[in-house]
Amino acid sequence: MHTTHLPSSIFRKISSYIQDNYGIQLPPEKKTMVEGRIRKRMKDTGIQDFTDYFRFAFSKAEEKKERIQLVNAITTNKTHFFRESAHFDFLKSHLSNHGGTPSVWSAGCSTGEEVYTLAIILSELSKQRSIIDFAITGTDLSTRVLDKAANGVYPEADIAKLPLSLKQKYFLKSKDRKNKTVKLAPALRKKLRFKKLNFMDSYYGFTAPFDIIFCRNVLIYFDKTTQTKVLDKLAMNLAKGGILILGHSESMPILNPALVQLKPTIYQKNLN
Ligand SMILES: C[S@@+](CC[C@H](N)C(=O)[O-])C[C@H]1O[C@@H](n2cnc3c(N)ncnc32)[C@H](O)[C@@H]1O
Repeated sequence: MHTTHLPSSIFRKISSYIQDNYGIQLPPEKKTMVEGRIRKRMKDTGIQDFTDYFRFAFSKAEEKKERIQLVNAITTNKTHFFRESAHFDFLKSHLSNHGGTPSVWSAGCSTGEEVYTLAIILSELSKQRSIIDFAITGTDLSTRVLDKAANGVYPEADIAKLPLSLKQKYFLKSKDRKNKTVKLAPALRKKLRFKKLNFMDSYYGFTAPFDIIFCRNVLIYFDKTTQTKVLDKLAMNLAKGGILILGHSESMPILNPALVQLKPTIYQKNLN
């Protein structure tokens, strides 16, 4: 017999798996959301029964295939260009006399809008000679969003509110005008790299610390112990004097001893 709703036992197994491996909390009130996301995977795989789907996704053979698709489907990837724009205004003034080549990490970059917004801001700063050059790394756990981010193609409507001058400078319109998309200009894309990274990993594998880390709207999915552990690792990957920016509704459960709070959601690493 086919089950019509996600059985609670399977929901509990999947939510434990997601929390243990990716830190994302899925309390019982998220069951309907999870069910909807699993249904999409069931449609794509042609499996009609939740129990059959669970067995399939958690079989050894599917560990690197359907299991990854399931994790991709369960992550929440909401983002947009110039989201929480006060952070970009802060960055502009913070880097106004920098004179070097800041390295920036968009940690939990989702589909890339945050990375490209940073690239536009930093490119403008280099034109004004506030900085010489820049490099941005975008990371996420979801391979689906990383592919989209690396591709850099967005519906034209997504940049509707941007000033015309920025649109003209940094975006190329698709030739096919029936399918209205824009692509980020190649000169901008050259300075970016995207990489899969799970915040739960014990070692993030970067060879040099970053001057700026944006980790916005990611910690909200974790419990306080996980938040503190991830913040310790972010602080370790921040250069002395570097800046860490969290999302507008996020704060640190315990202020990391290496960091000083400059403003709500904005922190600086000690110089010593
Ligand atoms: C809501 S989006 C935030 C995007 C962007 N930073 C912003 O503020 O607009 C959160 C992202 O965090 C990623 N994420 C969640 N848990 C993660 C983990 N354990 N490791 C890496 N990325 C994770 C999700 O895949 C998702 O794309």
